[in-house]
Amino acid sequence: MTTEIPIFHRPVLAQQIVQRTLSSNGRSGVFISAPRRTGKSTFIIEDIIPSLKTLKAEVIYVDLWSDRSRDPGDLIAEAVREHLQKREGVLLQWARKGGLDKINVGGVSVDIAKVGIGTGKTLAKALADLSDATQAVIVLVIDEAQHAITTEAGANALYALKAARDQLNGSAHNGFRLIATGSNRDKLSMLVNGKDQAFLNAVLFDLEPLGKDFVEWELSQYGEGIAPSLATVESEFIASGHKPETLHKALDDLAFRFNVTESNVDSEFRSIFSAINLDSKQNFMRQVNSLPPLQASVLVVMATTGADYAPFRPATVQKYKALCKKFSTSEVVVDDSSIQYALEALRKKTLVWNSARGVYAIEDSQHVVWLKEEFPAVTVE
Ligand SMILES: Nc1ncnc2c1ncn2[C@@H]1O[C@H](COP(=O)(O)OP(=O)(O)OP(=O)(O)O)[C@@H](O)[C@H]1O
Ligand SMILES: [Mg+2]
Repeated sequence: MTTEIPIFHRPVLAQQIVQRTLSSNGRSGVFISAPRRTGKSTFIIEDIIPSLKTLKAEVIYVDLWSDRSRDPGDLIAEAVREHLQKREGVLLQWARKGGLDKINVGGVSVDIAKVGIGTGKTLAKALADLSDATQAVIVLVIDEAQHAITTEAGANALYALKAARDQLNGSAHNGFRLIATGSNRDKLSMLVNGKDQAFLNAVLFDLEPLGKDFVEWELSQYGEGIAPSLATVESEFIASGHKPETLHKALDDLAFRFNVTESNVDSEFRSIFSAINLDSKQNFMRQVNSLPPLQASVLVVMATTGADYAPFRPATVQKYKALCKKFSTSEVVVDDSSIQYALEALRKKTLVWNSARGVYAIEDSQHVVWLKEEFPAVTVE
């Protein structure tokens, strides 16, 4: 994130979340959900982490979307390793002062390099050393945490973190908190609700979306042209899903409409906003329409079925077949292996998310809305 882009801060909200997280209410884990592109990462990086740091917490941040080709489990272990490396001085100092039996002076780097999931030094041990050396609560922030359960290593990393949490929250150490974010509440809830999930009983809540004060702040920076009214901008911003980028784009476009007057500025602004929204939808629909027929059908059935989607059930297969007839005039092979192939292709195109245990869902909730608008009912003849 470059520093040139001005950021609207929400320090009060951040402080409330941080205080609650560090209190005993947050000990099982805190999961924050907000839709895509609404400012989760910005809020975490610009407000939550600084607020944690002012309270002297040791903060480790990892974004599981930072590199989609990497295993989420590796990304988590690497973030912990990198943090330990940064704090090597403190760890060594602590080791010299008497933690010698726990940590090997001179061997710290080797120890750190070995930190991993199921290999060498465990995450729990590494985090316990860090906790003892710094005398601080450790907060691990995992952005886009739902990706942790897309691989076995990622799921194992969560279990390793649960072990760390249980150990560090014991009286011998200084506490551990996990803050996890995700762009889909249903997927995040799979991490906290399933009885075999590592973070059972963690708190899960929806992040308050950016609202009127953000819009006001944006408008205050709107150059020299005639600005639309706060009420109009606010209602358009909310209606299009609280996305700062859409608002930026609409205001930028408005600045280049030179026929704008005090009396037409609001309607001009509304028409710009609907044009932007329509554009995004059309782009997405073009992408859907250029998918091979079975992939497009799978995507539509998944979106319109929702949580009950079962990819290989006969009723689902009938729906694919009905849709394939709409997407293609030639015969499409629909069997288990072609369905499996289509699901995998959609996952690779990042249109679909799937857990290591075989649960599938549409990646972006906005796509679900659009697909439902375009395909209100999938009827089987
Ligand atoms: N508080 C803010 N002030 C100014 N711009 C913001 C703010 N929050 C978000 N934005 C802008 O909105 C866009 C999306 O923000 P961000 O990447 O934080 O969202 P996200 O929810 O994490 O997205 P994704 O779902 O892709 O992870 C970025 O261009 C960012 O600069
Ligand atoms: Mg993000």
